[in-house]
Amino acid sequence: MTERTPRLASTLQEDHDRLGTLFEEFRASRAASPERRAELFRPFAAGLRAHIRFEEETAFPFYGQGDPACDSTRTLLLDEHRRIQEVLERIEDRLAVGPADTAALEEALLNVLWAHDAREEGQVYPWFDAHLPTPRIEELVAVFRRLEPQGDRD
Ligand SMILES: [Fe+2]
Ligand SMILES: [Fe+2]
Repeated sequence: MTERTPRLASTLQEDHDRLGTLFEEFRASRAASPERRAELFRPFAAGLRAHIRFEEETAFPFYGQGDPACDSTRTLLLDEHRRIQEVLERIEDRLAVGPADTAALEEALLNVLWAHDAREEGQVYPWFDAHLPTPRIEELVAVFRRLEPQGDRD
């Protein structure tokens, strides 16, 4: 068996960290104008949606290879993605109407994201690097890198 660097796990964990930093910047902006808050939220939401889309469309179909335990984990992750996207939309709706208290929604998002990211980083991402052939991992990382500009700051 050959050793290799767990590249998909580290790539996606780094994106969780990058998105976490963007969200913290937004959370630190309570005193800013609604326009500024919406501007800070935009790259976070776009980056998180691109991350989720990559997981659902590109990476997760390979996860588990028919193992029922992995199938149930994937179902849970997809359900969490739906919840995450719902809260993103609710925050965007609030920001669109002017000065808005989004603290409770931010807490809700933090709670679901914390558990979700921990599940992915603990169980799911390491599985890819342990089970998929290196060329497949390299291909997945390459697809992910091409998505990243959607999350860039302007
Ligand atoms: Fe996810
Ligand atoms: Fe993720």
